[in-house]
Amino acid sequence: MSVFVAFEGGEGSGKSTQSKLLYERIIAEGFSSLLLHEPGGTSVGEEVRRILLAERGATGKKSSRSKNSTMNSLTELLLFSSARSELIEKVIKPNLEKDTIIICDRFIASTIAYQGYGRNINLDTVENIINVSTHGIKPDLTILLSVDPDKALDRVNSQLSLLDSVSNPVEKENPRLDVEGSRRFELESINFHKRVFQGYKEMSKDSSWLTIDATKSIDEIHNLIWDKIQMLIR
Ligand code: TMP
Repeated sequence: MSVFVAFEGGEGSGKSTQSKLLYERIIAEGFSSLLLHEPGGTSVGEEVRRILLAERGATGKKSSRSKNSTMNSLTELLLFSSARSELIEKVIKPNLEKDTIIICDRFIASTIAYQGYGRNINLDTVENIINVSTHGIKPDLTILLSVDPDKALDRVNSQLSLLDSVSNPVEKENPRLDVEGSRRFELESINFHKRVFQGYKEMSKDSSWLTIDATKSIDEIHNLIWDKIQMLIR
């Protein structure tokens, strides 16, 4: 029987670190696992990720009108959903039939938090589109790494200033997409991030969620997650 686990949280909450640690632990314990991230995980999905997360538009000019940061909210919602539709059809659905623990770094709750609460798109519209793209597939467990947006953005900003101080012109022109991705959403106001955080708090009342204080140490967080996963798989 497969188990489907999603990691959620705002920028700089440590989801990627924890999802990777969990994946490595599961493999080390002899189980089969798959580590995915959203948006992405398929060739179409990775191209959509580039459009969604690039601060610069196709011309590459930061100040041009093609700047992707001016994307319409509904377009954004549909792009995240189209990347998800590919991931569901090509990767998640086939693996749900296997004895695999599927770990996804972000899933549908990100869309509800960012496009619903953050962008203020009607929540029924967001949920309808999510249902179309997922055919109702939901995680068995959603792990929220919870951190106040003020604190988390400090972490992200220090990563970004490290990037800005890079002297190598090649790296400067082609920053790692994850950092660039954080940058497009990091450009949003603190109120945007507070709405996203509020959305997560509302959703985490569901019994299929585990909320962990993301300011704890990496090891402490990993151990809490592992305790919960053991209950699901043994
Ligand atoms: P990340 O890979 O660093 O988590 O970046 C993905 C960004 O995309 C992050 O800022 C959250 C955002 N996002 C949405 O706005 N909606 C979604 O449905 C997903 C999956 C991500």
